[in-house]
Amino acid sequence: MAIGEAGPGSVRDGSQPRKRLEETMRARLGRECVYVPSCRFGLYAALRHWCPPGGRVLMSPVNDDVIFFVVLAAGLRPVQAPLNPSDASIDVDAVPEDVWGSLSAVLTTNLYGNPDPAPGLRARCDASGIPLFEDAAHAIGSEVGGRPVGAWGDASVFSLSKHVGAKAGGVLAVADPGLREALEKACDDLLLPRRTTAELAYAVRPYAEAAVRGLRLRRAAWATMRLLGLMEREEIRMPLRPDELARAVASAPDLDAHDPWVRVDMHDYRLRAGRFRLGRIGRRLDRLDDVLAACRSGTELLLSTRWGHPADGQPRAAVQPLFRVPLLVADRDAAARAVARHGIVVGYLYDPPLDDYAGAAFTDPSPSPEGARWFARHALPVDPLRARSVIAALEESGVGPAEVPEGLGPTGG
Ligand SMILES: Cc1ncc(COP(=O)(O)O)c(C=O)c1O
Repeated sequence: MAIGEAGPGSVRDGSQPRKRLEETMRARLGRECVYVPSCRFGLYAALRHWCPPGGRVLMSPVNDDVIFFVVLAAGLRPVQAPLNPSDASIDVDAVPEDVWGSLSAVLTTNLYGNPDPAPGLRARCDASGIPLFEDAAHAIGSEVGGRPVGAWGDASVFSLSKHVGAKAGGVLAVADPGLREALEKACDDLLLPRRTTAELAYAVRPYAEAAVRGLRLRRAAWATMRLLGLMEREEIRMPLRPDELARAVASAPDLDAHDPWVRVDMHDYRLRAGRFRLGRIGRRLDRLDDVLAACRSGTELLLSTRWGHPADGQPRAAVQPLFRVPLLVADRDAAARAVARHGIVVGYLYDPPLDDYAGAAFTDPSPSPEGARWFARHALPVDPLRARSVIAALEESGVGPAEVPEGLGPTGG
Protein backbone atom coordinates (compact mmCIF):
# COMPACT_ATOMS: atom_id res chain seq x y z
CA MET A 1 0.00 0.00 0.00
CA ALA A 2 1.31 3.47 -0.89
CA ILE A 3 2.05 5.60 2.13
CA GLY A 4 3.29 8.82 0.57
CA GLU A 5 1.82 12.04 -0.75
CA ALA A 6 -1.26 12.38 -2.92
CA GLY A 7 -3.12 15.30 -4.44
CA PRO A 8 -5.84 17.01 -2.42
CA GLY A 9 -9.35 15.71 -3.02
CA SER A 10 -8.21 12.40 -4.53
CA VAL A 11 -9.22 9.06 -3.04
CA ARG A 12 -5.56 8.46 -2.12
CA ASP A 13 -5.40 11.59 0.07
CA GLY A 14 -7.53 9.91 2.71
CA SER A 15 -10.71 11.94 2.42
CA GLN A 16 -12.85 8.77 2.38
CA PRO A 17 -11.41 7.08 5.50
CA ARG A 18 -11.50 10.49 7.20
CA LYS A 19 -15.18 10.92 6.42
CA ARG A 20 -15.89 7.43 7.73
CA LEU A 21 -14.11 8.23 11.03
CA GLU A 22 -16.10 11.45 11.38
CA GLU A 23 -19.33 9.59 10.66
CA THR A 24 -18.55 6.93 13.30
CA MET A 25 -17.97 9.58 15.94
CA ARG A 26 -21.05 11.55 14.84
CA ALA A 27 -23.16 8.42 15.36
CA ARG A 28 -21.71 7.95 18.87
CA LEU A 29 -22.14 11.55 19.98
CA GLY A 30 -25.02 12.93 17.93
CA ARG A 31 -22.79 15.89 16.98
CA GLU A 32 -20.94 17.08 13.92
CA CYS A 33 -17.34 15.89 14.09
CA VAL A 34 -14.14 17.02 12.39
CA TYR A 35 -11.14 14.67 12.24
CA VAL A 36 -7.97 16.26 13.67
CA PRO A 37 -4.46 14.77 13.98
CA SER A 38 -4.54 14.97 17.81
CA CYS A 39 -6.67 16.11 20.70
CA ARG A 40 -4.23 18.93 21.52
CA PHE A 41 -4.51 20.28 17.97
CA GLY A 42 -8.33 20.18 18.05
CA LEU A 43 -8.35 21.98 21.39
CA TYR A 44 -6.07 24.70 20.04
CA ALA A 45 -8.35 25.22 17.03
CA ALA A 46 -11.44 25.42 19.30
CA LEU A 47 -9.84 27.88 21.73
CA ARG A 48 -8.74 30.10 18.83
CA HIS A 49 -12.23 30.01 17.34
CA TRP A 50 -14.14 30.91 20.52
CA CYS A 51 -11.75 32.86 22.76
CA PRO A 52 -10.11 36.13 21.80
CA PRO A 53 -6.52 36.40 23.08
CA GLY A 54 -6.15 37.71 26.61
CA GLY A 55 -9.06 35.66 27.97
CA ARG A 56 -9.03 33.46 31.07
CA VAL A 57 -9.80 29.74 31.04
CA LEU A 58 -10.82 27.72 34.10
CA MET A 59 -9.14 24.32 33.92
CA SER A 60 -8.02 21.43 36.11
CA PRO A 61 -4.53 21.58 37.65
CA VAL A 62 -4.30 17.76 37.56
CA ASN A 63 -3.89 17.49 33.84
CA ASP A 64 -1.35 16.79 31.13
CA ASP A 65 1.08 19.72 30.95
CA VAL A 66 0.72 19.65 27.15
CA ILE A 67 -2.86 20.95 27.56
CA PHE A 68 -1.62 23.78 29.77
CA PHE A 69 0.77 24.81 26.97
CA VAL A 70 -2.04 24.64 24.39
CA VAL A 71 -4.01 27.17 26.47
CA LEU A 72 -0.95 29.43 26.65
CA ALA A 73 -0.31 29.01 22.91
CA ALA A 74 -3.85 30.24 22.22
CA GLY A 75 -3.00 33.48 24.02
CA LEU A 76 -5.10 32.61 27.08
CA ARG A 77 -4.40 32.66 30.80
CA PRO A 78 -4.99 29.34 32.61
CA VAL A 79 -6.98 29.69 35.86
CA GLN A 80 -6.66 26.61 38.07
CA ALA A 81 -9.85 25.16 39.55
CA PRO A 82 -10.40 23.59 42.98
CA LEU A 83 -10.78 19.82 42.67
CA ASN A 84 -12.68 17.07 44.41
CA PRO A 85 -9.88 15.00 46.03
CA SER A 86 -11.55 11.64 45.39
CA ASP A 87 -11.48 11.80 41.56
CA ALA A 88 -9.92 15.17 40.60
CA SER A 89 -13.16 16.45 39.07
CA ILE A 90 -13.77 20.22 39.18
CA ASP A 91 -15.45 21.27 42.45
CA VAL A 92 -17.94 23.73 40.92
CA ASP A 93 -19.19 25.14 44.23
CA ALA A 94 -15.67 25.91 45.46
CA VAL A 95 -14.94 28.23 42.51
CA PRO A 96 -15.21 31.75 44.00
CA GLU A 97 -17.85 34.09 42.51
CA ASP A 98 -15.26 36.71 41.50
CA VAL A 99 -13.41 34.00 39.53
CA TRP A 100 -16.61 33.09 37.63
CA GLY A 101 -17.04 36.73 36.70
CA SER A 102 -13.51 36.93 35.26
CA LEU A 103 -13.63 33.88 32.96
CA SER A 104 -13.93 33.70 29.19
CA ALA A 105 -14.26 29.87 29.04
CA VAL A 106 -14.25 26.64 31.05
CA LEU A 107 -12.29 23.55 29.99
CA THR A 108 -13.06 20.17 31.56
CA THR A 109 -10.53 17.30 31.79
CA ASN A 110 -12.61 14.22 32.67
CA LEU A 111 -9.47 12.79 34.17
CA TYR A 112 -8.89 9.10 33.43
CA GLY A 113 -12.53 8.95 32.25
CA ASN A 114 -14.12 10.17 35.51
CA PRO A 115 -16.47 12.89 34.26
CA ASP A 116 -16.31 16.47 35.43
CA PRO A 117 -19.74 17.75 36.53
CA ALA A 118 -20.71 18.89 33.04
CA PRO A 119 -24.40 19.70 33.75
CA GLY A 120 -23.43 22.11 36.56
CA LEU A 121 -20.60 23.61 34.52
CA ARG A 122 -22.89 23.97 31.49
CA ALA A 123 -25.40 25.91 33.63
CA ARG A 124 -22.66 28.18 35.05
CA CYS A 125 -21.23 28.84 31.59
CA ASP A 126 -24.69 29.62 30.20
CA ALA A 127 -25.34 32.02 33.09
CA SER A 128 -22.03 33.79 32.36
CA GLY A 129 -22.43 33.68 28.56
CA ILE A 130 -19.11 31.84 28.06
CA PRO A 131 -18.26 28.64 26.15
CA LEU A 132 -17.69 25.24 27.75
CA PHE A 133 -15.01 23.03 26.21
CA GLU A 134 -14.70 19.34 27.06
CA ASP A 135 -11.38 17.58 26.85
CA ALA A 136 -12.70 14.06 26.38
CA ALA A 137 -9.29 12.52 25.62
CA HIS A 138 -9.66 10.01 28.47
CA ALA A 139 -13.44 9.76 28.40
CA ILE A 140 -14.61 8.48 25.04
CA GLY A 141 -16.98 5.95 26.66
CA SER A 142 -17.97 7.88 29.80
CA GLU A 143 -21.35 9.42 30.52
CA VAL A 144 -22.54 12.21 32.75
CA GLY A 145 -26.04 13.54 33.36
CA GLY A 146 -27.47 10.98 30.92
CA ARG A 147 -25.31 12.05 27.94
CA PRO A 148 -21.91 10.98 26.66
CA VAL A 149 -19.00 13.10 27.85
CA GLY A 150 -18.37 15.38 24.89
CA ALA A 151 -22.07 16.14 24.33
CA TRP A 152 -22.22 19.06 26.80
CA GLY A 153 -19.67 21.55 25.56
CA ASP A 154 -19.82 24.11 22.77
CA ALA A 155 -16.94 22.02 21.51
CA SER A 156 -15.36 18.80 22.74
CA VAL A 157 -12.16 17.08 21.75
CA PHE A 158 -11.27 13.38 21.72
CA SER A 159 -7.92 11.63 21.43
CA LEU A 160 -7.90 8.47 19.35
CA SER A 161 -4.50 7.64 20.86
CA LYS A 162 -6.07 6.56 24.16
CA HIS A 163 -8.95 4.01 24.42
CA VAL A 164 -8.91 3.54 20.64
CA GLY A 165 -5.19 2.83 20.95
CA ALA A 166 -4.36 4.26 17.52
CA LYS A 167 -1.44 6.36 18.85
CA ALA A 168 -2.60 9.18 16.56
CA GLY A 169 -5.72 11.07 15.66
CA GLY A 170 -8.44 13.00 17.35
CA VAL A 171 -11.92 14.37 16.84
CA LEU A 172 -13.30 17.84 17.35
CA ALA A 173 -17.07 17.72 17.94
CA VAL A 174 -19.26 20.82 17.88
CA ALA A 175 -22.70 21.54 19.36
CA ASP A 176 -23.70 23.92 16.56
CA PRO A 177 -23.69 22.01 13.24
CA GLY A 178 -23.51 25.35 11.43
CA LEU A 179 -19.94 25.80 12.73
CA ARG A 180 -18.59 22.62 11.22
CA GLU A 181 -17.38 24.15 8.01
CA ALA A 182 -15.70 27.13 9.69
CA LEU A 183 -13.86 24.85 12.11
CA GLU A 184 -12.82 22.45 9.38
CA LYS A 185 -11.34 25.39 7.50
CA ALA A 186 -9.63 26.72 10.65
CA CYS A 187 -8.06 23.28 11.23
CA ASP A 188 -7.04 23.04 7.60
CA ASP A 189 -5.19 26.35 7.85
CA LEU A 190 -3.26 25.15 10.92
CA LEU A 191 -2.26 21.71 9.59
CA LEU A 192 1.26 21.05 8.37
CA PRO A 193 1.78 19.02 5.16
CA ARG A 194 1.87 15.25 5.33
CA ARG A 195 5.38 13.78 5.47
CA THR A 196 6.21 10.43 3.94
CA THR A 197 8.76 9.67 6.67
CA ALA A 198 6.18 10.35 9.39
CA GLU A 199 3.64 8.08 7.67
CA LEU A 200 6.23 5.36 7.28
CA ALA A 201 7.27 5.62 10.94
CA TYR A 202 3.59 5.38 11.90
CA ALA A 203 3.13 2.33 9.71
CA VAL A 204 6.06 0.35 11.13
CA ARG A 205 5.78 1.46 14.78
CA PRO A 206 3.63 -1.45 16.06
CA TYR A 207 6.05 -3.98 14.53
CA ALA A 208 9.06 -2.17 15.99
CA GLU A 209 7.39 -2.10 19.41
CA ALA A 210 6.52 -5.79 19.22
CA ALA A 211 10.13 -6.60 18.30
CA VAL A 212 11.43 -4.55 21.23
CA ARG A 213 9.08 -6.40 23.58
CA GLY A 214 9.89 -9.79 22.07
CA LEU A 215 13.64 -9.25 22.32
CA ARG A 216 13.35 -7.72 25.83
CA LEU A 217 15.08 -4.60 24.54
CA ARG A 218 12.99 -2.01 26.35
CA ARG A 219 15.92 -0.40 28.18
CA ALA A 220 18.02 -0.16 25.00
CA ALA A 221 15.06 1.31 23.12
CA TRP A 222 14.54 3.99 25.76
CA ALA A 223 18.23 4.89 25.70
CA THR A 224 18.11 5.20 21.89
CA MET A 225 14.99 7.40 22.07
CA ARG A 226 16.81 9.63 24.54
CA LEU A 227 19.82 9.85 22.23
CA LEU A 228 17.57 10.78 19.31
CA GLY A 229 16.04 13.62 21.34
CA LEU A 230 12.63 11.95 21.36
CA MET A 231 12.47 11.59 25.15
CA GLU A 232 11.54 14.98 26.43
CA ARG A 233 10.46 13.99 29.93
CA GLU A 234 12.93 12.78 32.54
CA GLU A 235 10.39 13.51 35.26
CA ILE A 236 6.58 13.38 35.26
CA ARG A 237 6.39 17.01 34.15
CA MET A 238 8.47 18.23 31.22
CA PRO A 239 11.08 20.93 32.01
CA LEU A 240 9.23 24.29 32.08
CA ARG A 241 12.13 26.43 30.76
CA PRO A 242 10.46 29.59 32.12
CA ASP A 243 12.57 32.20 30.29
CA GLU A 244 11.96 30.63 26.88
CA LEU A 245 8.30 30.07 27.76
CA ALA A 246 7.87 33.73 28.75
CA ARG A 247 9.20 34.72 25.30
CA ALA A 248 6.75 32.34 23.60
CA VAL A 249 3.83 33.61 25.72
CA ALA A 250 4.70 37.19 24.75
CA SER A 251 4.08 36.28 21.08
CA ALA A 252 0.85 34.30 21.70
CA PRO A 253 -1.44 33.35 20.09
CA ASP A 254 1.28 31.45 18.29
CA LEU A 255 1.36 27.66 17.96
CA ASP A 256 4.79 27.67 16.29
CA ALA A 257 6.37 29.52 19.23
CA HIS A 258 4.91 26.97 21.68
CA ASP A 259 5.74 23.93 19.55
CA PRO A 260 8.66 22.75 21.78
CA TRP A 261 6.17 22.25 24.66
CA VAL A 262 3.00 21.32 22.75
CA ARG A 263 4.65 18.56 20.66
CA VAL A 264 5.99 16.59 23.65
CA ASP A 265 5.05 12.87 23.43
CA MET A 266 3.64 13.40 19.89
CA HIS A 267 5.65 15.21 17.27
CA ASP A 268 3.00 14.47 14.61
CA TYR A 269 0.31 16.39 16.47
CA ARG A 270 -0.39 18.83 13.62
CA LEU A 271 0.55 16.80 10.54
CA ARG A 272 -2.01 16.11 7.86
CA ALA A 273 -2.69 12.34 7.96
CA GLY A 274 -2.23 9.94 5.08
CA ARG A 275 -4.63 7.23 3.96
CA PHE A 276 -2.72 4.44 5.68
CA ARG A 277 -2.81 6.18 9.05
CA LEU A 278 -6.51 7.03 8.71
CA GLY A 279 -7.32 3.46 7.70
CA ARG A 280 -5.58 2.00 10.75
CA ILE A 281 -7.26 4.49 13.09
CA GLY A 282 -10.64 3.67 11.54
CA ARG A 283 -10.17 -0.08 12.01
CA ARG A 284 -9.26 0.48 15.66
CA LEU A 285 -12.23 2.78 16.19
CA ASP A 286 -14.48 0.03 14.84
CA ARG A 287 -13.33 -2.15 17.77
CA LEU A 288 -13.93 0.52 20.41
CA ASP A 289 -17.00 -1.05 22.02
CA ASP A 290 -15.09 -4.26 22.78
CA VAL A 291 -12.29 -2.23 24.37
CA LEU A 292 -14.78 -0.25 26.43
CA ALA A 293 -16.46 -3.44 27.68
CA ALA A 294 -13.07 -4.83 28.77
CA CYS A 295 -12.18 -1.50 30.42
CA ARG A 296 -15.48 -1.48 32.31
CA SER A 297 -14.94 -4.95 33.78
CA GLY A 298 -11.30 -4.15 34.72
CA THR A 299 -12.48 -0.90 36.29
CA GLU A 300 -15.10 -2.73 38.31
CA LEU A 301 -12.49 -5.14 39.60
CA LEU A 302 -10.02 -2.40 40.53
CA LEU A 303 -12.70 -0.31 42.26
CA SER A 304 -13.63 -3.31 44.40
CA THR A 305 -10.14 -3.38 45.97
CA ARG A 306 -9.17 -1.54 49.14
CA TRP A 307 -7.39 1.12 47.02
CA GLY A 308 -10.39 1.64 44.76
CA HIS A 309 -12.73 3.50 47.03
CA PRO A 310 -11.54 6.74 48.51
CA ALA A 311 -11.81 6.89 52.27
CA ASP A 312 -14.45 9.64 51.97
CA GLY A 313 -17.25 7.08 52.26
CA GLN A 314 -19.02 8.54 49.20
CA PRO A 315 -20.86 5.95 47.09
CA ARG A 316 -19.70 5.71 43.45
CA ALA A 317 -22.04 6.43 40.56
CA ALA A 318 -22.34 3.81 37.77
CA VAL A 319 -18.99 2.32 36.75
CA GLN A 320 -17.49 4.11 33.76
CA PRO A 321 -15.18 2.31 31.31
CA LEU A 322 -12.22 4.25 32.67
CA PHE A 323 -9.08 4.79 30.60
CA ARG A 324 -7.07 4.54 33.80
CA VAL A 325 -8.38 3.71 37.29
CA PRO A 326 -6.88 6.07 39.87
CA LEU A 327 -6.19 3.76 42.79
CA LEU A 328 -5.59 5.88 45.87
CA VAL A 329 -2.49 4.55 47.60
CA ALA A 330 -0.56 5.73 50.65
CA ASP A 331 2.84 5.78 48.88
CA ARG A 332 2.39 6.32 45.14
CA ASP A 333 6.05 6.01 44.18
CA ALA A 334 6.46 2.73 46.09
CA ALA A 335 3.30 1.42 44.43
CA ALA A 336 4.60 2.42 40.98
CA ARG A 337 7.89 0.60 41.69
CA ALA A 338 5.98 -2.48 42.82
CA VAL A 339 4.08 -2.73 39.53
CA ALA A 340 7.23 -1.86 37.52
CA ARG A 341 8.85 -5.00 38.97
CA HIS A 342 6.09 -6.90 37.13
CA GLY A 343 6.95 -5.12 33.88
CA ILE A 344 4.07 -2.63 34.02
CA VAL A 345 4.96 1.03 33.49
CA VAL A 346 2.63 3.53 35.16
CA GLY A 347 1.97 6.51 32.89
CA TYR A 348 -0.43 9.46 32.87
CA LEU A 349 0.82 10.78 36.22
CA TYR A 350 0.16 14.50 36.66
CA ASP A 351 2.09 15.47 39.76
CA PRO A 352 2.62 18.22 40.89
CA PRO A 353 -0.56 20.11 39.97
CA LEU A 354 -0.08 22.72 37.23
CA ASP A 355 -0.14 25.75 39.53
CA ASP A 356 2.68 24.29 41.65
CA TYR A 357 4.56 23.30 38.48
CA ALA A 358 4.29 26.54 36.49
CA GLY A 359 3.81 29.21 39.17
CA ALA A 360 1.98 32.53 39.16
CA ALA A 361 3.97 33.87 36.20
CA PHE A 362 2.00 31.56 33.92
CA THR A 363 -1.24 30.69 35.71
CA ASP A 364 -3.70 31.85 38.35
CA PRO A 365 -3.33 29.36 41.22
CA SER A 366 -6.28 27.42 42.56
CA PRO A 367 -8.00 29.23 45.46
CA SER A 368 -7.98 25.91 47.36
CA PRO A 369 -5.17 23.70 46.04
CA GLU A 370 -5.26 20.97 48.70
CA GLY A 371 -7.66 18.59 46.93
CA ALA A 372 -5.58 18.62 43.73
CA ARG A 373 -2.32 18.18 45.62
CA TRP A 374 -3.65 15.26 47.61
CA PHE A 375 -5.07 13.48 44.56
CA ALA A 376 -1.94 14.08 42.45
CA ARG A 377 0.27 12.63 45.19
CA HIS A 378 -1.84 9.55 45.94
CA ALA A 379 -3.40 8.52 42.61
CA LEU A 380 -1.85 5.51 40.88
CA PRO A 381 -3.42 5.42 37.38
CA VAL A 382 -3.90 1.75 36.51
CA ASP A 383 -4.77 0.42 33.07
CA PRO A 384 -7.98 -1.57 33.66
CA LEU A 385 -6.85 -4.05 31.01
CA ARG A 386 -3.97 -4.99 33.37
CA ALA A 387 -6.17 -5.07 36.49
CA ARG A 388 -5.32 -8.58 37.71
CA SER A 389 -1.54 -8.23 37.34
CA VAL A 390 -1.53 -4.84 39.09
CA ILE A 391 -3.67 -6.08 41.97
CA ALA A 392 -1.32 -9.05 42.43
CA ALA A 393 1.74 -6.74 42.42
CA LEU A 394 0.20 -4.36 44.96
CA GLU A 395 -0.93 -7.18 47.22
CA GLU A 396 2.53 -8.78 47.10
CA SER A 397 4.20 -5.48 48.10
CA GLY A 398 1.75 -4.67 50.89
CA VAL A 399 0.80 -1.28 49.42
CA GLY A 400 -1.62 0.51 51.75
CA PRO A 401 -4.63 2.64 50.77
CA ALA A 402 -4.49 6.43 51.12
CA GLU A 403 -6.67 8.10 53.70
CA VAL A 404 -8.29 11.45 52.90
CA PRO A 405 -7.26 13.81 55.70
CA GLU A 406 -9.97 15.43 57.76
CA GLY A 407 -11.44 18.54 56.12
CA LEU A 408 -10.48 17.57 52.56
CA GLY A 409 -13.91 16.29 51.46
CA PRO A 410 -15.66 17.67 48.37
CA THR A 411 -18.08 20.59 48.73
CA GLY A 412 -20.41 18.97 46.20
CA GLY A 413 -21.36 20.17 42.72
C1 LIG B 1 -6.13 14.82 29.56
C2 LIG B 1 -5.46 14.82 28.23
N1 LIG B 1 -5.94 15.63 27.28
C3 LIG B 1 -5.38 15.68 26.07
C4 LIG B 1 -4.28 14.93 25.76
C5 LIG B 1 -3.64 15.06 24.41
O1 LIG B 1 -4.10 14.08 23.54
P1 LIG B 1 -3.34 13.93 22.14
O2 LIG B 1 -2.08 13.20 22.42
O3 LIG B 1 -4.29 13.21 21.26
O4 LIG B 1 -3.09 15.33 21.67
C6 LIG B 1 -3.73 14.08 26.71
C7 LIG B 1 -2.56 13.24 26.36
O5 LIG B 1 -2.20 12.33 27.04
C8 LIG B 1 -4.33 14.02 27.98
O6 LIG B 1 -3.83 13.21 28.91
